[in-house]
Amino acid sequence: MKIDLLFCASLLDELHMRDKNVVVIDVLRSSTTIATALRNGAREFIPVDSIEKAVKVSGSLFGDVTLRGGERNGRMIQGFNLGNSPSEYTEAVVKGKSIIFCTTNGSVALVRCRHAKNLIVGTFVNLGAVVEFLASLREDVILVCAGRPLAVGGFSLEDTVCAGMMIAELELHERLELELSDPSAAARSLYRTHGRSIGKMLKGSEHGRYLKEIGFAADLNLCAGIDTVPVLPMWQETGVRLGKGQQSSS
Ligand code: MLT
Repeated sequence: MKIDLLFCASLLDELHMRDKNVVVIDVLRSSTTIATALRNGAREFIPVDSIEKAVKVSGSLFGDVTLRGGERNGRMIQGFNLGNSPSEYTEAVVKGKSIIFCTTNGSVALVRCRHAKNLIVGTFVNLGAVVEFLASLREDVILVCAGRPLAVGGFSLEDTVCAGMMIAELELHERLELELSDPSAAARSLYRTHGRSIGKMLKGSEHGRYLKEIGFAADLNLCAGIDTVPVLPMWQETGVRLGKGQQSSS
């Protein structure tokens, strides 16, 4: 089982993702928000890669079952119903809703990987579910870190450490023989360095410090939970839903 890894989704070639098994990782905060909202009964996430597309797509859907969620510079987009804090996506708000989702890196990564054979949304809060899925699949996989905008280097410590933890957990499966690409081996090393305190790592990361500065310190604790939201969001037809056989908590 070959494990490849991309440090930044902006660098990926859409066509290369076609028919691959892909996990998109955006720890702060898109992946955590998606897992939380689906666990809380949201029907689906429809990721888009621009605000214009979010407006266009929501125009063609029924208002009472659709919400627009997402962020620019970490804050809610004007005219949207929700930002990108997992704490906003409560059962009372999202149950039964389709969420048109537009974020700086996470939703863009999902759009770019939409032709994958299996496209999974992964982060710390659902790490065990993702690892179990990959272990039972026993096929090659590409871990895609949503990362940061290329203008600031593209690299995200938290996404890479999370990918490294997935690899380390897969290695514990005795019957799997893993073949790691160089980026995968590097991610596993970073996890070994930072994995003892995920909370501390998030607080020290560039995006973590920024989120704290703009008032979202509490989100860092939510995003640091391991297996606190054990669901498997996966792309199905036009958006991300819970995997077959999974139930939301509601
Ligand atoms: C993103 O997609 O870049 C993020 O999830 C940003 C954030 O809201 O923290």
